[in-house]
Amino acid sequence: MSIRFGIIGFGFMGHVHEEMITTQVEGAEVTAICDIIEERMNDAITENVKKFTNADELLAQDDVDVVLIVVPNHLHKKMVIKAAQAGKNIICEKPVAMSVKELDEMIAETDRYGVKFTVHQQRRFDQDFRMAKAIYDNKAVGDVYTIKSSLYGFNGNMHDWHVYKKYGGGMLYDWGVHLIDQILFMIDSKLVSLYADVRNVINDEVDDYFKVIMKFENGITSEIELGTYYLADKQKWFERHWFIGGNTGSAYLDGFEPDGKIVRTTRLLKSVPGKIAMTKSGPTRSFGPPPADVLYTEELPKVNTKHIDFFTNYVNAYHGNGEFLVKISEVKKVLSLMEAIWTSAETGNLIRFE
Ligand SMILES: NC(=O)c1ccc[n+]([C@@H]2O[C@H](COP(=O)([O-])OP(=O)(O)OC[C@H]3O[C@@H](n4cnc5c(N)ncnc54)[C@H](O)[C@@H]3O)[C@@H](O)[C@H]2O)c1
Repeated sequence: MSIRFGIIGFGFMGHVHEEMITTQVEGAEVTAICDIIEERMNDAITENVKKFTNADELLAQDDVDVVLIVVPNHLHKKMVIKAAQAGKNIICEKPVAMSVKELDEMIAETDRYGVKFTVHQQRRFDQDFRMAKAIYDNKAVGDVYTIKSSLYGFNGNMHDWHVYKKYGGGMLYDWGVHLIDQILFMIDSKLVSLYADVRNVINDEVDDYFKVIMKFENGITSEIELGTYYLADKQKWFERHWFIGGNTGSAYLDGFEPDGKIVRTTRLLKSVPGKIAMTKSGPTRSFGPPPADVLYTEELPKVNTKHIDFFTNYVNAYHGNGEFLVKISEVKKVLSLMEAIWTSAETGNLIRFE
């Protein structure tokens, strides 16, 4: 039987969910939507969808099996608890909560009412991420020592409620939660320590830049850097990059549908005769160009991934075929790491994990 979805919050992402479920997801349909601003629901595409301006009314509907919570971040806890009490299964948008404490309160209610609860961390299906993960999983650059994941906006733009603290604004809650989730989903090792710099470069209330350096038990250091005020007069208004360094090669990936290469050397550079290169800043051997036959490249791995895979997994797991890909224990780990990030940024200290 088709899973019947109700969507609470019909702004930008509520529309994206409606469109995807209605037009692409097999075994699912949207039966009800809700937004406190009635006009926002005027362009709903689902025929005969029920529309409400009060979430309680949507939650009282018998023909809603799963509620998608797509309201601004500060309302997630309240809506998840209401939905659990109404006996509805829940997919909450990211960030699931503002703190670990809030999430614990939500888990207590979803457990009490025995409803299914997961979080829309669909960037686990991003193409650039899946390629980076394939390189890591397949040891395509050998033993990895560093993974850098970065995202830069060149026009200084943050918008709407994201610039206010009381609505759960700021880039850590917005993109940080995806970028951290990706790294923790990829690196199969315990986090040992973390250092972070978090800044409000131009925003009064919320962070618009962060750099997080994480050290894992398996020896990998991972750096995540994001800036919204990384001004540049480029044709493209953002850049997404990965760099993965290992002992048999490096990989760079640029963009969400990435260009990039795996780069290797035919022999270790220590056995390549050093050639002095003259630069404007003087001579160098280590950073000069290599002889012609030393560097060679390979294509990035092919991956087959789409955001709809989140819902395909959901529908299957809902019917008992496998597990939800995004587990509450995982999003809790991301939230506790975010709390450590703020502590490190405020104190300037390295945070060690037992
Ligand atoms: N997973 C992703 O990639 C992704 C992308 C964008 C947004 N999001 C998340 O989706 C959520 C919504 O973000 P958005 O960009 O769609 O914001 P938005 O402002 O475009 O939409 C939010 C909507 O919620 C409505 N709303 C507010 N209070 C309400 C209430 N009490 N009851 C019903 N409706 C209410 C607003 O009127 C608005 O239309 C956020 O948590 C955000 O982090 C996730």
